[in-house]
Amino acid sequence: MSDAIWSELKALPKPSLGELFADDANRLDQLATRFELGVGGDASGIRFDWSKTHLDAAHIAGFEKLATDMDFDARRAALFAGEIVNPTEGRAAEHTAQRGVGKAESVELAGQYHARMASLVEAIHRGVLGEIKHLIHIGIGGSALGPALAVDALAREGALCDVHVVSNIDGCALEAAFAACDPATTMLAVASKTFTTIETMTNAESAIEWLRDGGVLDPYGRVVALTAAPEKATEWGVDETRILPFSESVGGRYSLWSSIGFPVAMALGWPDFSEFLAGAALMDEHFRDVEGLANLPLRAAFADQYYTRLLGCQTRAVFAYDERLALLPDYLQQLEMESNGKSVKADGTPVDGPTAPITWGGVGTDAQHAVFQLLHQGTNIVPVDFIAAIFPGHDLQPAHHRILLSNCFAQGAALMAGKASEDPARAYPGNRPSATILLDEVSPAAFGALIAFHEHRTFANAVLMGINPFDQFGVELGKEIAKQIEKGGTTFDPSTEALLELAGIAS
Ligand code: F6P
Repeated sequence: MSDAIWSELKALPKPSLGELFADDANRLDQLATRFELGVGGDASGIRFDWSKTHLDAAHIAGFEKLATDMDFDARRAALFAGEIVNPTEGRAAEHTAQRGVGKAESVELAGQYHARMASLVEAIHRGVLGEIKHLIHIGIGGSALGPALAVDALAREGALCDVHVVSNIDGCALEAAFAACDPATTMLAVASKTFTTIETMTNAESAIEWLRDGGVLDPYGRVVALTAAPEKATEWGVDETRILPFSESVGGRYSLWSSIGFPVAMALGWPDFSEFLAGAALMDEHFRDVEGLANLPLRAAFADQYYTRLLGCQTRAVFAYDERLALLPDYLQQLEMESNGKSVKADGTPVDGPTAPITWGGVGTDAQHAVFQLLHQGTNIVPVDFIAAIFPGHDLQPAHHRILLSNCFAQGAALMAGKASEDPARAYPGNRPSATILLDEVSPAAFGALIAFHEHRTFANAVLMGINPFDQFGVELGKEIAKQIEKGGTTFDPSTEALLELAGIAS
């Protein structure tokens, strides 16, 4: 059935953005929606404006039909019910339970884990473990990207702790953190769902050495472990009182809400971390309860499917017009590409069209002076998301923020309108799509809702394509081969052998 729906969608007329606005006076009202937060006593919100995408009544109806055909309601209900939605690994995906929305037992367990985390954070802030000024958070992938983004977004001013997130095995990364910290007042957070990831465990060992060399008599006493494998953390040497567990059913790239968010809570304090969770919970309830086009993550997924599968766009770009969100494209790359970069459906059969586009992006206005040429005049059509906030994150003169936002809105307008010219080199084709997410402010609640929106958008896309967004077997083969190289005794292809020999690594 879904093949027939895709054929119908492909056959529909594809009016230009200009025509869509001209033909429908209600377009803006229908496709630009304010999401109210109202968490923590503030009345802030987020505007999600999908009006500059090519969604029209006929395509929306087609995508709603597709959602029904792909059992969207049942799959969404299964997600929130804590059922097995990751069949290849036989697991549920219970990130929403971390925010208090999901299966009752899982919500309760997450609450217990959070209470344990809150006590430890508050005890450290009270000085129970001595004077702690710095936290080196060691993790990689989902155990680092979320913490790095959240700390950068929310804790630029008045942070309760100076956090450094280190992910890469390249020692330069760890050395940069060491240079900024004093071993006498530094804690380590070792963040790994599995507590076996080679980069994280190697970096953790080196950080222990650094503490020891810096005169810390009991370096393991300075470690907090954030993991779904607490027994492994104990074996490694962390005392049980400083192990913050989370459930196996929380996926790595969905784990910022669990104890993996420890550095965020350390930097912000528990009340703000709770607001971050509460903002995400509001988006969870919205995604769980609202039907059809009014459901914001589903609406975004309809547009994503339009560009990827109907127009064949191979990438999508995200530009944060806010320095605080500069790491958002990196975070979304893992979320979207590790989740939906698949070639088989959930039932193991080959997919019948493209899956996740390549997510890329940057920060505005910098990107305008580097990559926007291609967006405006290149041969690739790149759907763009612009993300900005009305209230600035600084106290400098208002001109800074005014110019920043004017530029952001100007880019969306220019992409859509284009400009004719007799000189082909100076002509802009226009009709290029964008969406705008405009936060009132980058508050913990708004940030939580923004991230949860993207998680649900990713899930909605997966449902529409029939794929499992919660496994990531594609990352395993390279890891296995790296292990074989470390072990030695295996012969590889001539190119790889030559590289190993040049680097002095025996195989
Ligand atoms: O290699 C990919 C991956 O498994 C990610 O999915 C995960 O976020 C990351 O590695 C880190 O894994 P862990 O938290 O177990 O160290």
